[in-house]
Amino acid sequence: MHRLITLLVVLLPLISLGQATTPPAAAALDASRCAVKLSVALTGRSPDAALLASSNPQSQVDALLQGTAFIERFSRFVNARFNDEPGATSVEDATYHLARHVMTNRLPWSDMFLGSFRVETANNTVSVVSDADGLGYLRSPAWLKRYAGNEEQGVKLSTAYRILNNTTGITLTAAVVVPGLDTSATGRRNAACAGCHYDSWFALDKISSVLTRRVGTGANMTFAAPTAGPQQLLGTTISNDKELVTALVNSPDFDFNVCRVAFGFVYGRKELACEGPLFDKCVDAFRAERTMQSAIAALTKDSSFCR
Ligand code: HEC
Repeated sequence: MHRLITLLVVLLPLISLGQATTPPAAAALDASRCAVKLSVALTGRSPDAALLASSNPQSQVDALLQGTAFIERFSRFVNARFNDEPGATSVEDATYHLARHVMTNRLPWSDMFLGSFRVETANNTVSVVSDADGLGYLRSPAWLKRYAGNEEQGVKLSTAYRILNNTTGITLTAAVVVPGLDTSATGRRNAACAGCHYDSWFALDKISSVLTRRVGTGANMTFAAPTAGPQQLLGTTISNDKELVTALVNSPDFDFNVCRVAFGFVYGRKELACEGPLFDKCVDAFRAERTMQSAIAALTKDSSFCR
């Protein structure tokens, strides 16, 4: 049953793309209403006088995407999407800080996960620093601690899930722990658990086995190197977090998720079945240019946006 549910979670977006039909024709908005819609979607603000007066507001999309209002709004959006709740401190919201850096410098979106960076606090300021050993925000100390989890042997199931969710968009709801439930690795092999923990492509226990292990708890926790050795995951051999994230970023799921994020940002909802052609345009644009801006531009420059 769990397998079925999770399979559906993975398949539904693909099915919805497959069923794409042409959206019904709608009248174009007049230019000033188009300007308002565009400005609110990208910056959260009403358009400035120049944009409002433009006879073709969509020609201003690239300029809007350079602005700090857009970058700030988008970075907050991504942070809310990649985390279930705001961090206890700003540095825990490493996704927000790195998104702002990646968007400001128009870096490929994959740098969020693979770039040589680290998010840390120095002199009471949260900053993005260069780190040859960095893995986007995924090796930032505060983020690692935030998602280290409580598993009894230090297995980082929570980190594994967060990496999968942030790269591919897969959404799973963890089982409710009731008194007496065996939550150990043995317990997680039970039929009710194995679907998510051992048997699927996203098997959380297998993914976790290539991550470091949590040693200790709270502020004093440290991380020890994985001991399981190379694993067969995602159709390849994976030995550590970097190889895991590289495989995820190179998967088609990553490109689709970029456009799901872009769509959610622009429209405030999921894409509909009839929007398949628009979604495909977004994926094509992203595959060609690799920036989140290219995905968002594909959606907001399309004629359907101002209808
Ligand atoms: C639908 C998928 C799914 C099923 C089924 C499932 N889990 Fe999980 N489990 C998760 C996810 C997702 C997480 C990570 C949650 C998080 O921290 O964000 C998780 C995390 C855990 C953790 C680590 C918690 C922590 O704080 O580190 C334990 C222990 C666990 N699950 C035990 C079980 C047991 C026992 C069962 C069977 C009764 C089970 N799970 C069934 C998805 C599932």
